Amino acid sequence: DAGAVQVEKAGFKHFMAKEIAEQPAVLGDAINHYVKKDGLDLPEGIDFAGLDRLTLVACGTAYYACAVAKYWFENLARLPCEIDVASEFRYREPPMPAKSWAIFVSQSGETADTLAALRYCNEKVEKTLAVVNVPTSSMAREADLALPIHAGVEVGVASTKAFTCQLLSLAVLALKAGVDRGHITETQLAAHLEGLRALPGLMNTALGTADEIAGLAEKLAEAQDILFLGRGPLYPLAMEGALKLKEISYIHAEGYASGELKHGPIALIERTVPVIVFAPHDRLFDKTVSNMQEVMARHGKVLLVSDARGLREASEGTWATLKMPEVAEPFAPILYALPAQLLAYYTAVAKGTDVDQPRNLAKSVTVE
Ligand code: G6P
Repeated sequence: DAGAVQVEKAGFKHFMAKEIAEQPAVLGDAINHYVKKDGLDLPEGIDFAGLDRLTLVACGTAYYACAVAKYWFENLARLPCEIDVASEFRYREPPMPAKSWAIFVSQSGETADTLAALRYCNEKVEKTLAVVNVPTSSMAREADLALPIHAGVEVGVASTKAFTCQLLSLAVLALKAGVDRGHITETQLAAHLEGLRALPGLMNTALGTADEIAGLAEKLAEAQDILFLGRGPLYPLAMEGALKLKEISYIHAEGYASGELKHGPIALIERTVPVIVFAPHDRLFDKTVSNMQEVMARHGKVLLVSDARGLREASEGTWATLKMPEVAEPFAPILYALPAQLLAYYTAVAKGTDVDQPRNLAKSVTVE
């Protein structure tokens, strides 16, 4: 393809490793597009003020970005928010309130189910918005508004930097919604923007755990099943961590809401089942820790990913820990995405799978 941008591995063993490593720079660039010194800078026409509902639709990793964003739109903007995977959404023909917007999130902008869901909504809602990595894509053209995520070309089939840039774009939209709807003051906005601007630096620190993670991955690679737990916006991140791991290491993994563990998956816990817990020291930390203790009481092997404070309070009895820097509470999923990606990556490397071209998967699924 003569017109294609030539992307090289630049010394990395895999595109995925390169794309994980470039996230601090790429996210910094995305932030510069939408966050200016004195506030947010978004395309004309984005105003969430009078809406009754927001709908977010996507597939795969992009769907988990929507699932994180639901927490943001509801908490920061008090905007009722519905999310669905596109293949279900398009065929259940959901009623759409007239005073609603729908957002479609897609790296490629070409996924068949998401595009069909967008076409369904184009006739029914006030405005459709495409959050895409490819600005010339079908979704960008067909939606009323398009917001590029500025991740650059992503080659690895397992999405990494596109995920964190999708999150960043959705966080910016949620902050705009909070301002439009009168739930975020100027002072609060300034603090949130500080939180976003700190992310690239924090991501660099998180990448510093790569060697430690590679060591843990040697053990994880022996597992048959791995559980991921999280609460609040870290719950969808647990699901994304599980998806990433199964995509490239072929180990069965599930992401669960920490509080839901006792309603089923706790039956799986035994010595051979690693349980990865994403738990920054936030207002739900103690609740997550008590779920983690239920796992340890049944001899589950817990890997706790937390910050210094969280690890000080809750490391006892864990199999291993990973230390993340402290991060502004709402944006923790953007930072914790990195250890999730690195855990999947190094486990796949330990198993010797084809990391960039995992079996049975395609980068973009343009057929149903
Ligand atoms: C495929 C890819 C996933 C991706 C999903 C949605 O299944 O393997 O990595 O998350 O499609 O793709 P999109 O381009 O719409 O984000």
